[in-house]
Amino acid sequence: MTILPDKIVFPERTLIGAGKAQSLLAECARYGRRGLLVHGRSLAAHGVLQLLLQNSPSGMAVATWEHAGGEPALSDLDRLLKTARKHQADWIAGIGGGSVLDLAKACAGLFHALQPPEVYHNGAAIETPGLAFAAVPTTAGTGSEATVNAVLTNSATCQKKSIRDDALMARLVILDPALLQYCPKRVIAHAGMDAFTQALEAFTSRHAVWLSDELGLKALTLIGTHLEAFYRGADTAVAEQVLMGSYLAGLSFAMARLGVVHGIAHPLGVRYHVPHGYVCGVCLPHAVELNREAMGGKYEQASRVLGRDLLDLIRHLLIRLDMPSPFRGKPIMEKEAIIRETVVAWSTKANPKPITPADVEWLLDRLFGG
Ligand SMILES: [Fe+2]
Repeated sequence: MTILPDKIVFPERTLIGAGKAQSLLAECARYGRRGLLVHGRSLAAHGVLQLLLQNSPSGMAVATWEHAGGEPALSDLDRLLKTARKHQADWIAGIGGGSVLDLAKACAGLFHALQPPEVYHNGAAIETPGLAFAAVPTTAGTGSEATVNAVLTNSATCQKKSIRDDALMARLVILDPALLQYCPKRVIAHAGMDAFTQALEAFTSRHAVWLSDELGLKALTLIGTHLEAFYRGADTAVAEQVLMGSYLAGLSFAMARLGVVHGIAHPLGVRYHVPHGYVCGVCLPHAVELNREAMGGKYEQASRVLGRDLLDLIRHLLIRLDMPSPFRGKPIMEKEAIIRETVVAWSTKANPKPITPADVEWLLDRLFGG
């Protein structure tokens, strides 16, 4: 088996531990005096934002920008870029869930870009280096802190896809499980199943290498073992296990890519306005059935580290995390377009079984039927 991919892009520095987020602004001082802190609504509501700003080293000029919520759109990024440029930021920090991190990451990467964000969303390479980006996740799930892509929706064309460039990698990551205590239960479930899906898809990807397998299997174990307890309200030590699992899953799929669940998740999520992790979670058991033969010995390998049959565990988690299919019994909107977009998706191309339109139709029938 290939040991390493032909390129590894990891975050430059990662700090881990409860309370570590309090050093965010002191850490960012190394990137410059002027910074923009991108965050979600709950950070201010719980007083965390105020505490961070109180810990700002003297002489720093830190502005804040609150994401209104929902899946991040190009229009959000346009507004954020205007704010960051007006503030003449030296660095951008994102502290929040996947949407906040992706917006902050894209803002840092495109800060000096010569063209509008839409051009890069359509695949153009970023010509000019951006700003330093610091990522502080407040959910355990997307792995955005460990990857070089920012998922954004173009609301005009209804297209949800990534801006992807090595320059988007975070310079600093802080994994602070104390921040996860404010995470709503529904987000713990959705983000956790996203992370679990990412770990499994990376592990079974046709681009998997030894290192991505090691990281992916450890991520599967950490998330599969601790997610239910975290959802039920376990302490910071358990939250830290899931947070580390999510980070490892991010590192793993950044090198191995994903699979058909992530290929279908974007076209479905954007049409039904279902959160990304929710779509991934409910698609996962059907995709595992579809892929089981192509996964070869990896099905048993995953079951072994989880201490339970893989499909059994996934179905058990979906019940225990209160995640019934949001699609069941609904009509399939724009079926042909969903199939077309899924088959050509970057993630689908890494799926262990080559995916045909008939396979996507089978997945849709399983998700919407009954
Ligand atoms: Fe995902």
